[in-house]
Amino acid sequence: MNQIKGRKIVLGISGGIAAYKAVDLLRRIEELDGRVAVVMTANAQRFIAPLTFQALTSEGVYTDLFDAYRPGAMDHIHLAQWADLVVLAPATANIIAKAALGLADDLLSTFLLACTAPKLFCPAMNVRMYENPALQANLERIREKGGVIQEPESGALACGETGRGRLASIEEIIESLQGIFSPPDLRGERVLITTGCTWEPLDPVRFLTNPSTGRMGFALARVARRRGAEVTLISGPTHLSPVPGVKQIPVVTARDLEKAALEAFPRATIVIKAAAVSDYRPEKTSVQKIKKKQERVTLSLVQNPDILRRMGTLKKKQFLVGFAAETEHLLQNARTKLESKNLDMIVANPIGVPGAGFAGETNQVHFIFPGGKTEALPLMLKEEVACQLFDRIIREKRKTP
Ligand code: CTP
Repeated sequence: MNQIKGRKIVLGISGGIAAYKAVDLLRRIEELDGRVAVVMTANAQRFIAPLTFQALTSEGVYTDLFDAYRPGAMDHIHLAQWADLVVLAPATANIIAKAALGLADDLLSTFLLACTAPKLFCPAMNVRMYENPALQANLERIREKGGVIQEPESGALACGETGRGRLASIEEIIESLQGIFSPPDLRGERVLITTGCTWEPLDPVRFLTNPSTGRMGFALARVARRRGAEVTLISGPTHLSPVPGVKQIPVVTARDLEKAALEAFPRATIVIKAAAVSDYRPEKTSVQKIKKKQERVTLSLVQNPDILRRMGTLKKKQFLVGFAAETEHLLQNARTKLESKNLDMIVANPIGVPGAGFAGETNQVHFIFPGGKTEALPLMLKEEVACQLFDRIIREKRKTP
């Protein structure tokens, strides 16, 4: 679920070259229906004009302690009360030091001192400045006071050096904001998710597969991470971007998936098998490209291991969830899979219904539990399906000591 919707967020911008990236952050928060007021330091305004932000936000841009005298503007105290959350991006060494010590000599630092809302600091600076013990000690002070630090990325820096100090990606910052607003009710859980299709090669240039893109599993991974879980995502070939904070293991064939999944299984407390695994693979994979010689070709296929069934026999403490993709007799087939694979829950997923199944952003599913209890969910975004699924898993896990 989008936790940013309707939230009042103050975006604090201090004077670093990454200040221009704050424009993208502002736009992304507003796309997610968050409300953003901007506070800029004097140095930030040397990198990017307040007018850019004024054109993009309806909640105002504040640059001076005396802005409050503008009609309709808030002073720093009212702004501090208005905010549900503060994100500092980029956060320079200077604003980090001021926040750590409680200095208040301009609007942004004074506002920070007055504001009790959660704060996310996104440092961006030269690598040696970032690694300096004085800066690290200030970050530690901020953490002790409850602030959250979004670690910068490693890479080429604007100053010409290479190392840790690049502003975290916008998607990472957004995921952290979603996490701060989410209930931490999966903290302590180790969630293993499999997703996407598998490729079963016929020769070096051809393979058998299906249309699964991995979207459902990526949504599950994002939601589990936001709610505090440690997440491992085993994914077949996909074009989706990695989920920040999630350990992603790429696999290609069903047998790769089996190996990776069974290795990760013993540590997991919750396992969700959303992958659309190929049930069969070619009996032989040709080393060379198969040439177009014959009029008719017959493929001989052999069965792949059923990973979920195996997990059902191995499970100890794991809460095991399967998906059932069906074109007919949806509930009946899903119930049979729930029982025969010894699952704690199954998500019945109709194929061929508009808005449900493979590839799209939405899904329309049924949750089925042992004993036959069934819940039909309306058509919703895959991320919302993921939230509902974890709500049920937590509820069911609480029932069993
Ligand atoms: N699954 C698996 N290993 C396989 C096939 C399926 O782990 N070789 C898992 C899927 O990830 C899913 C569940 O089993 O969670 C059901 O998959 P589905 O393809 O719907 O059913 P199958 O068991 O393969 O049965 P059928 O193809 O006959 O419907």
